[in-house]
Amino acid sequence: MTAPILPADNPEAIAKAADILRDGGLVAMPTETVYGLAADAANGKAVARLYEAKGRPRFNPLIAHVASVDMAQSCVVFDEAARQLAEHFWPGPMTLVLPRRAGAPISDLAGAGLDTLAVRRPAHPAAQALLDTFGSPLVAPSANPSGGVSPTTAAHVAEGLGDRIDLILDGGACKVGLESTVITFADGAATLLRPGGLARRDIEAITGKLRLAAPDGPVASPGMLASHYAPRAKLRLNAQFVRPGEAFLGFGNTPRATLNLSRKGDLVEAAANLFAHLRTLDRTGAACIAVSPIPVEGLGEAINDRLQRAAAPRGLA
Ligand code: TXA
Ligand code: MG
Repeated sequence: MTAPILPADNPEAIAKAADILRDGGLVAMPTETVYGLAADAANGKAVARLYEAKGRPRFNPLIAHVASVDMAQSCVVFDEAARQLAEHFWPGPMTLVLPRRAGAPISDLAGAGLDTLAVRRPAHPAAQALLDTFGSPLVAPSANPSGGVSPTTAAHVAEGLGDRIDLILDGGACKVGLESTVITFADGAATLLRPGGLARRDIEAITGKLRLAAPDGPVASPGMLASHYAPRAKLRLNAQFVRPGEAFLGFGNTPRATLNLSRKGDLVEAAANLFAHLRTLDRTGAACIAVSPIPVEGLGEAINDRLQRAAAPRGLA
């Protein structure tokens, strides 16, 4: 049976979603970044089902989504720097990895047994309504089979996971289109674990220069596998022109593009289109998708990160 799709702005749909979650079920919810697959963070069995539905490696810890800073504080210990970031950017596309609080209402499985936890307060009104109604943290990785392209519409979710979950809340296309930026504090220094939907320069305006986590260092993000977000087709990056048989994902003035991330060269628009355009081009059956160069500034850092992972040799994960 495929999961019903209900409009996310309907209070009855939100109430039904909260009931399903209380019973240990799985609900896909819209967030401003990408659609998340939500489960009761405290319910180990529900979290195990979630990993299974995604086919996700169990060592990969999940983000606890919270309705408020107070709820976040029931999970993790904030220092002054983390508090400032939350004040500036929540609700929004930023995740903080902080020391886990004793008695946090998060199953060990969701935290992958680590002594830190990732927390985020999402900005989408439907995610906020669901968290308010549910009343405690929800873990929510992107609502796609592990390793695939993250979903930015309810239809994408249905395509990948429809037969493995209980409900899909349809809140339209995600505005940001890229997963949240993940920040931690190692020895007091703000450290970038994953570039994402909040540009580095916005965060650096508050924290000063961010440190970069070494990919295999002690604070590296376990979810940052080399091959990830991968379509079926191969990717050829920084392509100036298209070769025969390729689909061409353009950016800016690219007259021969099959699809264009942003004709006017706007990185925010490009981020919002990235995953949906990769899916559409993948469906054309082309063996390879050529992608125009994307400037590494603002959200371009996260766009390039996702493209490099999508282009990485498969099977590394
Ligand atoms: O925008 C988003 O963040 C979306 C929406 C649904 O909220 N969620 C999402 O979740 O992207 P997920 O599970 O795909 O990514 C979580 C990232 C992974 O890279 C994971 O390794 C990292 O956060 N992470 C989680 N807990 C961590 C921890 N304790 N230490 C270091 N990294 C952690
Ligand atoms: Mg993901």
